[in-house]
Amino acid sequence: MSTHIAAAPGQVAPRILLPGDPLRAKWIAENFLEDADCYNEVRGMLGFTGTYRGERVSVQGTGMGQPSLSIYVNELITEYAVQQLVRVGSCGALTERLALRDVVIAQAAATDSSMNSHRFQGFHYPATADFALLRHAAEAAEAPAKGAGSGVQTQGGASSRHLVGTIFSSDSFYHDRPDLTQRLTEFGVLAVEMEAAELYTLAAKHDRAALAICTVSDHIVTGAETTAQEREQTFGAMVTMALDAMLA
Ligand code: HPA
Repeated sequence: MSTHIAAAPGQVAPRILLPGDPLRAKWIAENFLEDADCYNEVRGMLGFTGTYRGERVSVQGTGMGQPSLSIYVNELITEYAVQQLVRVGSCGALTERLALRDVVIAQAAATDSSMNSHRFQGFHYPATADFALLRHAAEAAEAPAKGAGSGVQTQGGASSRHLVGTIFSSDSFYHDRPDLTQRLTEFGVLAVEMEAAELYTLAAKHDRAALAICTVSDHIVTGAETTAQEREQTFGAMVTMALDAMLA
């Protein structure tokens, strides 16, 4: 096992989904993977490996914020040789181009985190998604109807609208400076979440492929919020998009 993950070598698949919430990891394992086994319960940060369309896939909770995600992603990469990592999370919309439950596919992540200012003293690092995963996720989002469903499998009528662009990975959920989020909006940043920049930076450092896909759970501009049931429905569409992008 590694310091924070109890899996034996080989128990974690080369492809992994990364929700922040460990109970979302359990929900994904139960609803999207076949024959899923739990490989980690350390600190309640659940991790599972199963199969999706016959391929081994894992799902691991990361906790909230870049320091927590960094622990799990470092260990998944260096101790378990994970190759493809896709965050499936939620975000707050910074633009009226996005509505609640829309999906944001993060091409790049700006950040206020001190993690990258310590790493890259004196310059600003552009944390960017893996191009192939980004392209495949956008294609999955735009795919024509599969069976009876819409282009994005929606599990109960969730929105299938999506935007590809820049997000902001913040260290704070509760912001004291609304003028700063307004500045981000002026410069085309679509949404705020708390993990993608560190995921992209670590993947680049270790030559791995990473992507973050987030559904809009709340709207910073309009103040609107989703219900827990809406979040679950939209989350399902995003998980299918992430799995299809990894297997494309
Ligand atoms: N801020 C940061 N992270 C988030 C938000 C937000 O408003 N919504 C969902 N994740």
